[in-house]
Amino acid sequence: MCGIVGVVGLEACSETILDSLKRLEYRGYDSSGIVIQSDGALQMNRAVGKLRNLSEMMREAPLDGQSGLGHTRWATHGGVSERNAHPHMAGDKVVIVHNGIIENHVALRVELEGKGHSFSSETDSEVLAHLFLEAFDNGLSAQQAGKEVMARIEGTFALAAMHADHPDMMIVARNASPLAVGLGEGASFIGSDAVALSHLTRDVIYLKDNDYAVIRPEGVEVFDAEGTPVNREVVIVAASQGVVDKGGYRHFMEKEIHEQPDAIAHTLAAMTGPEGKLSTPLAREDLAAIDGIVMLAAGTSHYAAMVARYWIESLARVPVSCEIASEYRYRNPVTGAFSCAVAISQSGESLDTLMAMRHAGEAGLRTIGLVNVPGSTIAREADMVMPTRAGPEIGVASTKAFTAQLTALVSFAVALAEAKGQISVARRDEIHAAIQGLPSMVGRTLGLFDDIRPLAHSLTAARSALYLGRDVLFPVALEGALKLKELSYIHAEGFASGEMKHGPIALIEEGLPVVALLAADEVMGKAASNLQEAAARGGRIILITEERAASTIDFAESVITVPNVDPLLAPVLLTVPVQILAYLTAFEKGTDVDQPRNLAKSVTVE
Ligand code: M6R
Repeated sequence: MCGIVGVVGLEACSETILDSLKRLEYRGYDSSGIVIQSDGALQMNRAVGKLRNLSEMMREAPLDGQSGLGHTRWATHGGVSERNAHPHMAGDKVVIVHNGIIENHVALRVELEGKGHSFSSETDSEVLAHLFLEAFDNGLSAQQAGKEVMARIEGTFALAAMHADHPDMMIVARNASPLAVGLGEGASFIGSDAVALSHLTRDVIYLKDNDYAVIRPEGVEVFDAEGTPVNREVVIVAASQGVVDKGGYRHFMEKEIHEQPDAIAHTLAAMTGPEGKLSTPLAREDLAAIDGIVMLAAGTSHYAAMVARYWIESLARVPVSCEIASEYRYRNPVTGAFSCAVAISQSGESLDTLMAMRHAGEAGLRTIGLVNVPGSTIAREADMVMPTRAGPEIGVASTKAFTAQLTALVSFAVALAEAKGQISVARRDEIHAAIQGLPSMVGRTLGLFDDIRPLAHSLTAARSALYLGRDVLFPVALEGALKLKELSYIHAEGFASGEMKHGPIALIEEGLPVVALLAADEVMGKAASNLQEAAARGGRIILITEERAASTIDFAESVITVPNVDPLLAPVLLTVPVQILAYLTAFEKGTDVDQPRNLAKSVTVE
């Protein structure tokens, strides 16, 4: 994740921007930069490495003015270098900062270069500076320029732009990446979250997806994508100096569901090597030497492991055993068929997973920690670390950490398959391209909240629910059931749909909600027959599927569709409506969504 901040109308604002950047350092810090607008000119400092390098640079070469932008970067497109660090300038007139991924940046760059624009970085973000320059050179106002640029770009973004000739004015926009606007006295601020602004103001506006705004010291004008002025509520944020806030959402869980495009994009960046291929922290020869993997995890992380087993076995032809950490740690496992153990843990602190990892290490397996919290115990003790970059997850129910784990694991599966000589270059590149499309597909899937709300309302009366999935969607069914029960306290079970006839079908009675996960994959026909059997016995089928598979079933009571996706990645996309359904059901029931009863975020006891 990158962090962005901005100030208009505050004397000597560079110190303030630095302070705000420090509060965003958790979002990534391979490089950072500040631009200050003063007397019709833009002056910029950028530094590679931690923020203290930029602070040092600002001491040696101070920048002074009353408006400016700051950025702390976690590289996605383009390596870690000063020229790829933000801010990015075009024609010495326009400067931008950006968090997210501009998916059509290649086509835009070609078009802009054809018009004579010259680029100085390898980033996707730089096209934004040139698009704004083009818009202003064509005589557009700030409001028109914002609308014009929004209409040209695809992907996920929180961005801010300034023009040297328009003092004390900035244009900001967002889609699927967070952005808060702070209102001060005679000054306005922006930040990737309200914590970046909490030392400046408590009056905050959270832009909605596809909003853009023109920000001046005296106030803010917000527009929707059509350029129509809209009112967005001013929220009074808590005075607390905590490191994360709810970002205008009702719960951390709701916020974290919305952060998934960012979490996936940044995890993918961490799993992409300098040559632009999916990679892992393991050397190619170490990957090639892996002949069997034990996956150790608990709860949601265990379900991520189960999805990964399908990927690794089918792509890399390496056997995988998924073990519940609390069981494995007391077993006397036969490890001869395995060469490494992957401990998967959001927190990196789950005692069961830590102990299972130690157990595997003592049995001679090489250990890899897949963790979201750098510096956690599992990260420190594992022989190797594979990171997810989901950012802090506060809600007890794991959401963005799960889809980030899946992103890291599918990337690992592809890199392993390549090292084992099991995948063609064409298929590798096809999967890589499909993963790169996930952030925006997940972003689109987040639009399902309103469709799912009535369904959630109807679930609140249920005493029990079943979740069914087949093949790679079986673990997603388990995850869906876990989400529903831990949040709404409704009894829920996940089953492999082909297993129903071996016992669980006896549970089906008239009106029992059956949440069915279906993708356009090799087992779709068989999964559909299993659902038919459930419907024939009175099950109320709630179908969650891809657009192209929806017509396979004409007996579902409700259908929720997500965009079509490579079948390999269906578990990632189909997880999102499952999370939303559990969240909204709990919300409708009035349970404590972020801290459900009897649970803790990280379980560090036996
Ligand atoms: O931090 P970890 O990934 O090790 O946590 C494992 C489980 O405790 C966790 O996934 C738990 O199941 C969540 N509450 C599920 O939402």
